[in-house]
Amino acid sequence: MLTVVEKLLSRPQVAEFRKVLDAASWVDGKATAGRQSGAVKQNRQLPEGSKESRELGDKILDALAGNPHFISAALPLKIFPPLFNRYEGGEHFGTHVDNAIRAVPGTATRIRTDLSCTLFLCEPEEYDGGVLTIEDAYGAQEVKLQAGDLVLYPSTSLHHVTPVTRGARVCSFFWMQSMVRDDGERTLLFDLDQSIQALSAEKGANDPAVVRLSGIYHNLVRRWAAC
Ligand code: NI
Repeated sequence: MLTVVEKLLSRPQVAEFRKVLDAASWVDGKATAGRQSGAVKQNRQLPEGSKESRELGDKILDALAGNPHFISAALPLKIFPPLFNRYEGGEHFGTHVDNAIRAVPGTATRIRTDLSCTLFLCEPEEYDGGVLTIEDAYGAQEVKLQAGDLVLYPSTSLHHVTPVTRGARVCSFFWMQSMVRDDGERTLLFDLDQSIQALSAEKGANDPAVVRLSGIYHNLVRRWAAC
């Protein structure tokens, strides 16, 4: 399931991020790519573990932890420290699948990449091209979001970023391991949770049907989650 989380960051937060990012020094994006993806990757990144990367990354993790829509869709177990990339002057990223396992630098933690995320830190009007194209069961989905919005998609998907032919595309990207590994199960849980929230808003949280459905939701999580 491909999900968009709108306004994960506010406009003032994005402006603050951009001030830091526009003044930062960037390195070749091949630094975090595997063999196949490295061959088709052409962009720049903030160095992993740099002061800017850590500080901004922590702010993203805080925003994610406080966002019920994200939690419901991702059911995150472990999140990779967010990275930042920049494409301009025709840079692009050819078709690839993200590496299955990511070691968190400087730690013994390894993350199985169940979900990939891109958080847009520039407005669509600031650049031409730079469309994130994700192949899912329903064909190719083209994603180009407002600044502050995030897209979440299964890491099993082939995807690419088209060349940026004007301006600069600045984003954060990262991966996560979900408590529920299977995308189909995670999608059912998300749909059920969203339906319970809607019903609860209409009938009240203590309505007997809402209570029973909430029980079913939690029992399914118990059945499918690993943590
Ligand atoms: Ni990728």
